[in-house]
Amino acid sequence: TEIAIVLGTRPEIIKLAPVIRACESQDVQYTVIHTGQHYSEELDAVFFEQLELPEPDYNLGVGSNSHGVQTAEMLVGIEEILQDEEPETVLVQGDTNSVLAGAIATSKLDMELGHVEAGLRSFDRDMPEEINRVVTDHAADYLFAPTVDSADLIREEGIPEDRIYVTGNTVVDAVEQHREFAQEKSAILDELELVPSEFVLVTAHRAENVDDEDRFEEILDGIARVADRFDVDAVYPIHPRAENRLDEFDISVPDSIRLVEPQDYLDFLNLESNARLILTDSGGVQEEACILGVPCVTMRDNTERPETIDVGANTLAGAETDEIVDSAIEMDGAVCDWTNPFGDGEAGEQIITEVEQSETPKELEMTP
Ligand code: UD1
Ligand code: UDP
Repeated sequence: TEIAIVLGTRPEIIKLAPVIRACESQDVQYTVIHTGQHYSEELDAVFFEQLELPEPDYNLGVGSNSHGVQTAEMLVGIEEILQDEEPETVLVQGDTNSVLAGAIATSKLDMELGHVEAGLRSFDRDMPEEINRVVTDHAADYLFAPTVDSADLIREEGIPEDRIYVTGNTVVDAVEQHREFAQEKSAILDELELVPSEFVLVTAHRAENVDDEDRFEEILDGIARVADRFDVDAVYPIHPRAENRLDEFDISVPDSIRLVEPQDYLDFLNLESNARLILTDSGGVQEEACILGVPCVTMRDNTERPETIDVGANTLAGAETDEIVDSAIEMDGAVCDWTNPFGDGEAGEQIITEVEQSETPKELEMTP
């Protein structure tokens, strides 16, 4: 096989779908290795089915565990498969533990590593995702940066120029490939009895937010106050990590927040497109809000997607109730005419073209 694609979580499935499609359209042989980091139907199988992706060739089924155990099990499993399959290039996307394991396994074998969505930095080393990004970028042979700014960040860290490619983010491809279909097919507004622009959409799942009881409560209070102030419902498709924490902390969720199941991609895109405002701590949701022209409040102290703030699509609220309310009022008045900074929706095709065409640094080293 030429390319092995390692993925393991919801956002990786969504953002690698355009890369998988590009392998198909360019007739490139590929293998998909699923780590099994996400395994619940609504975080995993539903996307393979709806995005019409081929079943993964391998599923390591590692499931949930501490970072060390989870990453170690993936590392062992990925290495074994790569040794059998002998791909020329291994692609990983983003910043999860699946990415870290794929990066470490590949970099110790005689194969090239490509990092899709390279060069993102929150500059917060307390986030597991930040460590995963830094390690993966520094192990990679191809760094596919979504923007010129992300390319600059890795250049400043000393990554050689010939490894860096600015391709845009594959999330633009994903949104463009599905947005019209979502409008035609999705009945989620009717199902949830929602009127366009008369609800706010919420996601919150990040460990630093939901694993801290006080912080999670402040966030929920902030969301509820926004909903009350705008006289709308807040619709919150809840990630299992957050749902588990609600149970564990025995938090009672305010009435104006409607908890719903995690949504499939078409329904979620439709919810995003029709929301008056999006409140989130997700990386991908900050990008999609910006691409879809919907104002966003990010309930974090930092973001590795500063382009969304630069164009006026997003603001950082932190996790305090008052700040969340103030930020929501500010963004509610935003003029939504910004230009999407994440590329032209051809990132998947471009990535596969680069991998297929380029003489990589390793090959160049071997040329006498
Ligand atoms: C992971 C990523 C995070 C990413 C998110 C995308 C890391 C370190 N974190 O966080 O960067 O934003 O995925 O959604 O890689 N669980 C289920 N079903 C599942 C998966 C998880 O119920 O299919 C529950 C388990 O209780 C588990 C918890 O969610 O302990 C957390 O799962 P885990 O994969 O460790 O991290 P995420 O929070 O999903
Ligand atoms: N998403 C989805 N259904 C949901 C919530 C999110 O399909 O109920 C999609 C969303 O459109 C985006 C991706 O999941 O493409 C974001 O994933 P997540 O927030 O889990 O991870 P992050 O981007 O923060 O790593």
